[in-house]
Amino acid sequence: MRVLSGIKPSGSIHLGNYLGALRIWVTEQHRDTFYGVVDLHALTLPIEPEELRTQTLSTAATLLAAGIDPQRATLFVQSWIPYHAQLTWLLECVVSFGELKRMTQFKEKGGEQAGHRAGLFTYPVLMASDILLYDTEGVPVGEDQRQHLELTRVIAERFNTRYGPTFVVPEAIVPTAGARVMDLQDPTKKMSKSELSVQGTISLFDSPSEIEKKIKRAVTDTDNDVRYDRKNKAGISNLLDIFAAVEATTPQLIAERYSRYGDLKSDLAAALVSTLAPIQQRYDELMADPGELHQQMMIGSQRANEVAAPVFERASRAIGLLH
Ligand code: AMP
Ligand code: TRP
Repeated sequence: MRVLSGIKPSGSIHLGNYLGALRIWVTEQHRDTFYGVVDLHALTLPIEPEELRTQTLSTAATLLAAGIDPQRATLFVQSWIPYHAQLTWLLECVVSFGELKRMTQFKEKGGEQAGHRAGLFTYPVLMASDILLYDTEGVPVGEDQRQHLELTRVIAERFNTRYGPTFVVPEAIVPTAGARVMDLQDPTKKMSKSELSVQGTISLFDSPSEIEKKIKRAVTDTDNDVRYDRKNKAGISNLLDIFAAVEATTPQLIAERYSRYGDLKSDLAAALVSTLAPIQQRYDELMADPGELHQQMMIGSQRANEVAAPVFERASRAIGLLH
């Protein structure tokens, strides 16, 4: 099965990215995998050029540190493959304005406010191009990306109906635990990079004492009953979900082991510290040699380009562009 996913190089990677997506990228590596640092997506919100360059490199290092093996997975930088932007234009002429307007992430980000970039509106089409360019069958993503994946399927099917069989129609791969990691300070909001709530977000690079502090201060309720109930006990259920994802079990089984919030929190903090410590160490080693890192990204991007070129040509012929 051909698998592809992407991550935006904007802000440091957090626990939601890791448990909802990255971790699955690693376990899917026995398949034919393509993983992109999707730098063009980072331009949908304000970012300084120097910041974008630095983040692109450090996101690549984070993926390798988290266990992506460049011998097995094709790791690429999106903007180095020109077909992503080119295919986006063709697909923007397949999708409708109304379909894009219905995207909840666009609404949540207040997309219609004055001054917001048009790219924030059309971004799901760029994501569809990322996926369709590689004849992708499976897409590991967190719950928040389900709607964008559904739109990708609609675009692929419409293109195929209108212009003849061209694209593979992909499926989402969503983990059972950890697909939606919530903010520790406000468990009704998803944990996010752009969030101002530093205390509610665990970065993959937080120190052990920061992790302990953030977990200890995570918002819970007052009845001190360890039970998995996302609706009525959002805070404690979020911690149980995180724990379940780290230990590859279910939140219900974790809940059975604890009768007090305090014990659950200190064991969870310890489990997170030991999961993240080796990733942090490998990251430091990789960032010590940016030249080598750049080289790795070139190799993967060349391979990605070779796969994307004939797919783009297929689409461009089908739609009627002269060859
Ligand atoms: P992004 O940071 O927006 O580039 O997202 C990269 C990946 O992380 C996507 O597959 C998202 O679905 C996933 N992701 C982002 N935030 C969360 C979250 N709070 N919980 C679970 N998965 C998430
Ligand atoms: N839009 C995704 C997000 O914000 C990131 C992304 C871009 C992606 N292109 C992709 C994910 C292709 C999967 C496949 O999380």
